[in-house]
Amino acid sequence: SDYQLGEYANFMHKEIREQPEAVRRTLAGRLDERFGTARLGGLNLDPRAMRGIRRVKFIGCGSAYYAGQIGANLVEEWARLPADAEPASELRYRNPVVEEDTLYVAVSQSGETADTLAAVQELCRKGGRVIGAVNSVGSAIARACGSGVFLHAGPEVSVASTKAYTNMVVCFAMLALSLGRVRDLSVSDGARIVEALQSLPDHITAVLSGENTISEVAKEHSNAERMFFVGRVRGWPVAREGAQKLKEISYVHAEAYQAGELKHGPLALIDPAMPSVVVVPDDELLAKNIATIEQIKARGGPVIAVTNAELPEGLADSLIRVPRGEPELDPILFTVPLQLFAYHLARHLGRDIDKPRNLAKSVTVE
Ligand code: G6P
Repeated sequence: SDYQLGEYANFMHKEIREQPEAVRRTLAGRLDERFGTARLGGLNLDPRAMRGIRRVKFIGCGSAYYAGQIGANLVEEWARLPADAEPASELRYRNPVVEEDTLYVAVSQSGETADTLAAVQELCRKGGRVIGAVNSVGSAIARACGSGVFLHAGPEVSVASTKAYTNMVVCFAMLALSLGRVRDLSVSDGARIVEALQSLPDHITAVLSGENTISEVAKEHSNAERMFFVGRVRGWPVAREGAQKLKEISYVHAEAYQAGELKHGPLALIDPAMPSVVVVPDDELLAKNIATIEQIKARGGPVIAVTNAELPEGLADSLIRVPRGEPELDPILFTVPLQLFAYHLARHLGRDIDKPRNLAKSVTVE
């Protein structure tokens, strides 16, 4: 294809660095500043049909599933509709309750993942209303859904998803915003969110400008055989995606955990050889996350804090700084440094970045 490496050592690095422009592309023409909303024409839902939706369910595999978890959180926050995410590989083998006022969102970069396609077909067979959130135009999942939102991330070659993942979440933010704006979200709150979305590309550029520091931190921890990724509420899917990235390309074992659940078992694993990457946004849960870091430190565990808050001096062993934006969009911004962290750690270990062992970009087998 005409998508070339150019100056980059591998596609993953290129695709990470392309994120500001990929986000700009997916936002282009879809934001309405005046009415503080988003217009996703491909959904084919008029305001009345939008208002009839009583629940939203995101389905996908791997990173697409974690992106869906962030989408579900955004729908709950902004539209106050119950929402959740489920791996398509699970849903397809259950006998799910399919309700006609639920909006199902099938999430896929390739549009060819066999489990996601089978889940879409099962939902359609039961009369479910399914839309796609797909990157590849003309793909099997896009065609099976018939309507939806295209991600416009451009080609993604690296097995580990980066820019497509980010664009998934940006599209879910627009979906949540438009669902919120036909319900109880005010025009001024909508306008605040539109502005925050417009600032995202520059904020991502700011994260990328800290790449050297992130690379140093990754190098310092590259002898670890295992790591925890810890987050709470908004930070939880971020931790899951961070752990996923590290596993995929570095082969270091990583486990994501909800901060509040650490004390119910996993704290037993903390020792000086088990670093924890802790997601610490400067939001209403900051004090709780600081307490989590203290619990880890008290057991001798090294802590890498990813944060946009002013943490007490010396609290974390390593710091990765993130710019400040609207808290609801923190999950997007906080994922980018974790991509870079996994990337540099894997580079340091000499791994094959774009084609990790045992994995495929598009899993068309069952
Ligand atoms: C594979 C890839 C993952 C990806 C998942 C879903 O497992 O290695 O990076 O997240 O498939 O792919 P999709 O194309 O459906 O987003």
